[in-house]
Amino acid sequence: MNKGIAIYPGSFDPPTNGHLDLMERGAKIFEELVVAILRNSEKSPMFNVAERLEMLRALTGHLKNVRIDTFDGLMVEYAKSMEAICILRGIRAISDYEYELQMALMNRKLEPTLETVFMMPADKYSYVSSRLVREVAQAGGPVKGLVPEIVEQRLRDKITPVKQRETRAIEILDRIDLGGKELDPKGTKRKKKA
Ligand code: PNS
Repeated sequence: MNKGIAIYPGSFDPPTNGHLDLMERGAKIFEELVVAILRNSEKSPMFNVAERLEMLRALTGHLKNVRIDTFDGLMVEYAKSMEAICILRGIRAISDYEYELQMALMNRKLEPTLETVFMMPADKYSYVSSRLVREVAQAGGPVKGLVPEIVEQRLRDKITPVKQRETRAIEILDRIDLGGKELDPKGTKRKKKA
C-alpha cells in the first residue's frame, strides 16, 4: 500500500457501478482516496451536487479509507490543497484514452509534481457511462446492473414524476380542440367539422 492521498475527480452524475468498482480498486492501493465531485460543471446536471454527495457517501460507507468531497475551479489546485500525491482516473476503452491523455498532460503542465494514475474497471462495466445511464433511464429503459441499487431508485424517483407530467400533458393536448377540428369522445382521434 502506498502512503498517500489520491484524488478521484469526476462529475458522477450519477455514480455508476464502474465508478464504484474503480473506488474499490483505488481504496486498496492508496492510503486514502478522496472522491471529489466537480461543483461548477457547465452541464445542467440530472442530480445536484448534494444528491450526488449523498449517494456517493452511502455507496462507499464500507470503504473506510474513502472520503467524498466537492471541489470548484482547477482540480490540481484542489489536489494540492489536499496534499494529494496523485489523481486517479478510470479508462474503459481506447475511446477514453485521448480525452484522458489530454487532461492528464494538461494537469501535468499545471502541476508537474502531481501524477495521474489510470485504472481499468471490471470489463463488465466497460460500456457503462453516466451519460448512457441517464439516456436509458430518461427513456424509461432498465438500468439494473449498471448502477448501484440506491442510484437505480433515485433515477426512478427523478424520472417517474417527469414521465407522469409528460403523459398528462399529452392527454390534455389530445382533448383540446385545435384549428376547428372536432374531438372524438375519447380524445384519441380528431374529425373535421362538417
Ligand atoms: O467525470 P468527468 O466529467 O469526466 O470529470 C471531468 C473532471 C471533473 C475530472 C474535469 O473536468 C476536471 O478536473 N475539471 C476541473 C477543472 C480543471 O481542472 N480543468 C483542467 C483539467 S484538463
